[in-house]
Amino acid sequence: MSMYTHFKTSDYLTVSSIKSIYFRRFSSMPKIAVIGAGVVGLSTAINIQKRQPSAEVTIIADRFDKQTTSHGAGGLFRPNVEHTLGVNPDTVTRWSVEGFKFYSSLAVSPESRDTGHMIMPGYVFSNTEIQNPLYKSLVFSFRQLTPDELRKLSVNYKYGYQVTTVITDCSRYLPWLMTRFKEHGGTVENRHVKSLEEFVGEYEVVVNCTGFSSRELVGDKSVYPVRGHLIRLKAPWIKYWVYTEDSAYFVPSFDTVAIGGIRQKNNFSLDIDPKDTAGILERCYKLWPSLKGAPIQREWVDLRPHRDPLRLEKEVMKFPKGSLNVVHNYGHGASGITLSWGTSLDAATLVAEHLNQNTSRL
Ligand SMILES: Cc1cc2nc3c(=O)[nH]c(=O)nc-3n(C[C@H](O)[C@H](O)[C@H](O)COP(=O)(O)OP(=O)(O)OC[C@H]3O[C@@H](n4cnc5c(N)ncnc54)[C@H](O)[C@@H]3O)c2cc1C
Ligand SMILES: *[C@@H]1O[C@H](CO)[C@@H](O)[C@H](O)[C@H]1NC(C)=O
Ligand SMILES: *[C@@H]1O[C@H](CO)[C@@H](O)[C@H](O)[C@H]1NC(C)=O
Repeated sequence: MSMYTHFKTSDYLTVSSIKSIYFRRFSSMPKIAVIGAGVVGLSTAINIQKRQPSAEVTIIADRFDKQTTSHGAGGLFRPNVEHTLGVNPDTVTRWSVEGFKFYSSLAVSPESRDTGHMIMPGYVFSNTEIQNPLYKSLVFSFRQLTPDELRKLSVNYKYGYQVTTVITDCSRYLPWLMTRFKEHGGTVENRHVKSLEEFVGEYEVVVNCTGFSSRELVGDKSVYPVRGHLIRLKAPWIKYWVYTEDSAYFVPSFDTVAIGGIRQKNNFSLDIDPKDTAGILERCYKLWPSLKGAPIQREWVDLRPHRDPLRLEKEVMKFPKGSLNVVHNYGHGASGITLSWGTSLDAATLVAEHLNQNTSRL
């Protein structure tokens, strides 16, 4: 409830009136651009509005809603330090704590139908013991199953865990974030950005939330794809999720159950490969025969934007036209939904640091 109330207009106005008066004196209404309208760009834009109530924030992107990688994701909140390589585990923990606080508060709020957050019980099955995962102390509940409980579920794994966590249905969450952003005065431009140089002299700070495209645009070749493939089934009788280490899992959302998966490093293909479809179906039917007979609604292939480490830092970039304050926030890999809220809080702090440096230079 407390995080949820952060979205009240009154809160935006009282967040830091001293700070906004300070900014108005030196640079009235700083102009800030966020490139990217995926879950990372939208969350970052909203947290900048919250921290800098006087700022004019614009989201610039060439893909929105259904066209983004964020839209199709499974959305399971299951943070894992090993999925976010190169970042201090304490930092991943902090991002995860913030994300769970926010998502769980939305899941129990009267708006959950629109935000797309659901409290969802499920099982993790494994042949090796899962010692102390990051999410154990965060999520609603986590408990190892007894051998008898495993037997009742008819699965061939040595270990099982009952986990109740939160699921984010991005087909609802992205439009909800966009509505909040516009309500708080944000503007949106639909265009392709060729170079950050376009922003020199126009914006005081530009935030780069371009996900996988950071690779081509920038030439940041440390961003690499991990190709994924999800099949959406109409299976309203499945009210829980299941995860295994054997490339077989399923996660329900509002209307469908997403089953996967594929994890192919450095494969750029966005085509649906019928061999992958057959493999996912075979593995998931074997894992959970109850999925058989569920009609396929749609299939989706996209690239998880990995970077080790994920890039969250500020930089002053020099161009022939002049210098530009930039904050980077991309490369969330397989955990973009899970970590987007926590990383965007930090990105908003980095934007504030840029603005503070500017005012002190004057
Ligand atoms: C199969 C699969 C399953 C997944 N499941 C989960 C899951 O269960 N849990 C989880 O946490 N994560 C999951 N993920 C990962 C998650 O989807 C990503 O990490 C996340 O969506 C990345 O968000 P983003 O905002 O960085 O990128 P995107 O959603 O790709 O958004 C990028 C934005 O940048 C814009 N852009 C890029 N370049 C330019 C340019 N030059 N000019 C203008 N605009 C530009 C685009 O238009 C777009 O709006 C999954 C991913 C896949 C592929
Ligand atoms: C994102 O950052 C990279 C690395 O600095 C930069 O080269 C690229 O132009 C940025 N992306 C966009 C869309 O501006
Ligand atoms: C990438 O995936 C496609 C589709 O499954 C496949 O046809 C292709 O051989 C793969 N390429 C590489 C380099 O693995």
